[in-house]
Amino acid sequence: MSPTGGGVEATPSAGARRSGLPLDLEVVRVKVPAKINLELRVGPLRPDGYHELATVFQALSLFDEVQVTLLPEGRLSLHLEGEGAQTLPTDERNLAMAAALLLRESYGTPELGARIEIAKSIPIAGGMAGGSADAAATLLACAVLWDLDTGPAELTELAARLGADVPFALLGGTALGRGRGDELVPLINRGRCHWVLALSDRGLPTAQVFAALDRLRGAQGAEPALAGTNEALLNAVASGDLEALGAGLVNDLEPAAISLAPELEPVLSTGRRSGALGGVLCGSGATCAFLCASESQAATLAARLARLPGVRAVRRAHGPVPGARLIS
Ligand code: C5P
Repeated sequence: MSPTGGGVEATPSAGARRSGLPLDLEVVRVKVPAKINLELRVGPLRPDGYHELATVFQALSLFDEVQVTLLPEGRLSLHLEGEGAQTLPTDERNLAMAAALLLRESYGTPELGARIEIAKSIPIAGGMAGGSADAAATLLACAVLWDLDTGPAELTELAARLGADVPFALLGGTALGRGRGDELVPLINRGRCHWVLALSDRGLPTAQVFAALDRLRGAQGAEPALAGTNEALLNAVASGDLEALGAGLVNDLEPAAISLAPELEPVLSTGRRSGALGGVLCGSGATCAFLCASESQAATLAARLARLPGVRAVRRAHGPVPGARLIS
């Protein structure tokens, strides 16, 4: 790994392994956070099948862990455990495997292999970018394991090829996202947000929620103009004003997600009426997030939400936290 991404060419080149570094690691572990969108504004559908977004991401203290172990002869295998793991594919349809394959192909190193083990805590199909997080962590872990001559700029470029949310999982913190959500600008975020997350007993596939939004907008004859990011919310992030932040939480996908999963509506309204500073659907759902003024308020709200129909589990988390990081 290059120590920084500054000034490096962002296009990976074939055969680019570092040599002479006495790293020789056989196992590398990476911890990667979930994300929520404090604001998610959805614009028109683009010719590439994605929607133009204006969003504010925040990384939360709900982590997946990825461990990679060197395997000989270019062998790659993927093993998952934890939250919903048995429902996920372990071949290249899994974004983590796709990440390892893309990295290897980009650096022209088919002889490198790895056993990839993922311990999942981020809910599956919950709008918290768990699959994207695993892809980001696998990119970083394999780049270190394989001693590739790469840095943040190259990894971010590969991340964007894997999916719209993958670059943010590398970056973490709080950031503005434009384009598909992958053109990022880091934001200064003062203060610490306490979140209560109501996990749904069903997942919502992202593409289906975006398609439902298009149908709703079509039925209403609504012109899908992209609203800019809310100035008040950005000020609240910068100043650490949690009340203003709670009031500014917004997600254009909420009506679409509720049209597919009507039980989300009472979860959101109960949380908002039960003392939270604000509530918002996470990404395309079906997790709902509530911002609380304190740890004790979060504990009370968590207990109330846990009793609602359709709520599989409740988690507490704080943000912002860093993106994908090596751990020992
Ligand atoms: O990038 P990712 O594979 O996570 O996106 C999943 C799907 O979500 C896309 O195929 C697309 O249907 C939808 N999407 C979108 N606009 C975005 C991001 C995702 O329409 N900006």
